[in-house]
Amino acid sequence: MNILGLNIEEDCSAAIMANNAVIAACSEERFRRQKCYSGFPLQSIEFCLKRAGLAIEEIDLVAVCDLGTTHMDIVFSYLQRRSRFTVNDYVREAHDFWYPRLYENKDVEYLDVFKDKIDTSVFPEEFNKEFFSNYSLYKKSNVNDIQNLKKLLIRSYFPQIPLEKIKFFPHHQIHGFYGYFSSYFPLNGQDVLIVTADSWGDNENGMIAKFQNGNYEILHTVDNHNLGRVFRNMTLFLGMKPYEHEYKVMGLAPYAPEYSAKAAYKIFDQIMDVDGINFIYKVKPRDYYFWFKQRLEGIRFDGVAAGVQNYFEDRIVKWISNAVKKFNIHRVCFSGGLAMNIKANMIMGQMEGIKDFFVAASPDDNSNCIGVCFLAMYRHLQENLGDWKSIQPLKDMYLGPQVEDSEIKKIIDDYELEKICDIKINAQPDFIAQRLSQGIVVGRCAGNMEFGARALGNRSILSDPRNIAAVNRINRIIKKRDFWMPFAPVILDTYWDKYLLNNNKLYSPYMTIGFKTSSAGAKDMPAAIHSADKTTRPQMLRRETNPYYYDIVSEFEKITGVGAILNTSFNLHGYPIILNAKDAADVLIQTDLDSILLNNTYIEKKQKVFDY
Ligand SMILES: [Fe+2]
Repeated sequence: MNILGLNIEEDCSAAIMANNAVIAACSEERFRRQKCYSGFPLQSIEFCLKRAGLAIEEIDLVAVCDLGTTHMDIVFSYLQRRSRFTVNDYVREAHDFWYPRLYENKDVEYLDVFKDKIDTSVFPEEFNKEFFSNYSLYKKSNVNDIQNLKKLLIRSYFPQIPLEKIKFFPHHQIHGFYGYFSSYFPLNGQDVLIVTADSWGDNENGMIAKFQNGNYEILHTVDNHNLGRVFRNMTLFLGMKPYEHEYKVMGLAPYAPEYSAKAAYKIFDQIMDVDGINFIYKVKPRDYYFWFKQRLEGIRFDGVAAGVQNYFEDRIVKWISNAVKKFNIHRVCFSGGLAMNIKANMIMGQMEGIKDFFVAASPDDNSNCIGVCFLAMYRHLQENLGDWKSIQPLKDMYLGPQVEDSEIKKIIDDYELEKICDIKINAQPDFIAQRLSQGIVVGRCAGNMEFGARALGNRSILSDPRNIAAVNRINRIIKKRDFWMPFAPVILDTYWDKYLLNNNKLYSPYMTIGFKTSSAGAKDMPAAIHSADKTTRPQMLRRETNPYYYDIVSEFEKITGVGAILNTSFNLHGYPIILNAKDAADVLIQTDLDSILLNNTYIEKKQKVFDY
């Protein structure tokens, strides 16, 4: 059965499953060159179909994320909220939309507040006509009406898809199936507790389920923890962009002096706590922006970051550990947007009583296009008495478009790179390792693009992790990251034990779990750890996952004795990760980046800028 998985909400994406394996997936932002592009993932679908060698008519099922509860997914797409809203727009949202609704009992219309931002070119004209002329009806619609609206949207691009082939699946189950089938658990058949938590999806924000002897069973759901909502509002309170810069709040937290962290925590601690596998409120704030704003005034900015992070860690860790005890299952797969918090994952992963803990790549809504394929296939097999073991778990995340050698040659000619660069065809990993050890920063664009927010070697900027000055250099050259944000390493399998404190022997191939570093780790890769608390967010790499990439690190180890390389995503500040060789060459030309590696063609500037 051929399944097309669609996430047609914010940060939209598509995936294809054929022969029971997900063989292609991509986020639309990569094609559109607009971060978190929202709307319809048309180019992603076209790529997936091409990779699978299928025509749209050969798709047996279009599996759509979410049962769909409101019309707001469509509204947010018209506004391109995730990609175009500034911090000031979110402040406006709080003051002009939420405040009058929550505190003045006024029926404010979201689209009226942001009417200056509506972009109708996002969807086809015919669909716009239907949506806006019946807006008041869609506003009050039930799940069926919203599903019909989304079917209409899909068929406005692909009219040949019969209505009965389009089906909708529930949000938290999608997160759960993505987490489980991204892991090694299905292969070894162990019992696993699957925990999902996020801001909101299909009227829930948390689910505890289990996978036992091939049976998936939902054990418990919650809708009231609001941890994502609190974190998001504190991101805004600190002047950063909600839905995007939560990781910066997490990164800032370790810098807080104890007195300010404690003062802030006291305020967060007043509202909600964990009771078994439920959440109970001591005080129920009417909102999570103005309520905290009033009470946090005067507390240092980093203290606020530490307060909310500590509150988040405490509650989510308690909730999951209570679930582990209650259901007596000690292997945990954690998924959903809240599983993006690598520091909370660090604590949970090393807790006593946990035998294993896994977090998939980009476990937020972006990966739902993949998760929905797994869930749809599982349900299909169940209904047709098939064997769930025939579903193939993900082996890696290299599911995106490929760099073609013909494309590289054209780029070199079009950009006349030979004039300004030294070019080495068929460069081998030992040569790249040597250049890295000599302080050269390399942007690697090779093979299939990885899916998700983290670059995993194929669209990565690589640098010497020993050199702390490299952090400033990469920031000045290209990344423009905030000064407190750390970089992360890729670490060879033979160095995991040497560099990471990992009592529970976790395997984290997708940079989704934090670890404390050993003294050897902190000494060998100071540029790839958090300088305040010496933690790191590694890509744990095995050779079979990505041989050429592995060999670069391995050759680097032979030269330097260090079994890791600094790995950060290859993108220009404010833009999505690069898609292809052209994007890589654009960055090379527009910035002071030293070199790019396109498949195995190495292109290094003759004149490099080292004076940072
Ligand atoms: Fe979600």
